Amino acid sequence: MRNRVAVMHGVNLDALDRRPSEVYGDLSLDKLEREVSHFARDLGLEARFFQSNHEGEFVEELHRSADYADGLLLNPGAWTHYAWALCDAVEVAGLPAVEVHLSDIERREEWRRTSVLADVVVARVSGEGVAGYRTALERLKEAM
Ligand code: DQA
Repeated sequence: MRNRVAVMHGVNLDALDRRPSEVYGDLSLDKLEREVSHFARDLGLEARFFQSNHEGEFVEELHRSADYADGLLLNPGAWTHYAWALCDAVEVAGLPAVEVHLSDIERREEWRRTSVLADVVVARVSGEGVAGYRTALERLKEAM
């Protein structure tokens, strides 16, 4: 059964509880990952978590991901908007991927509107807060 999901958080997501609460609410990464574990369990999925503030580490984890996962749930933080190496690394992983953002990246600053993942993901869920991770897992499950 293909039900193993690598949930990968990128730069600054470890500091969610110190970021603007009007954008990210009162979330911490711990809290977010606990919620995502529940969503995954409800959907019959197994979630494994990773976070890094180092792009190279994130890329290397993507390279390894097919060894232990069947799908990728990715919130790369600000890398989303300029780190094109992530696009190539998702291709290397060769797994179905869904992009998720807590905030609505289309309705914030102009620079957040580009996503380097646009061509390599099966879906993007943006602006639904924590609940968006559930939607994203559902989309990913369909693609795995
Ligand atoms: C984010 C949106 C990005 O623009 C931002 O840089 C983040 C978080 C989100 O989840 O809303 O760090 O990916």
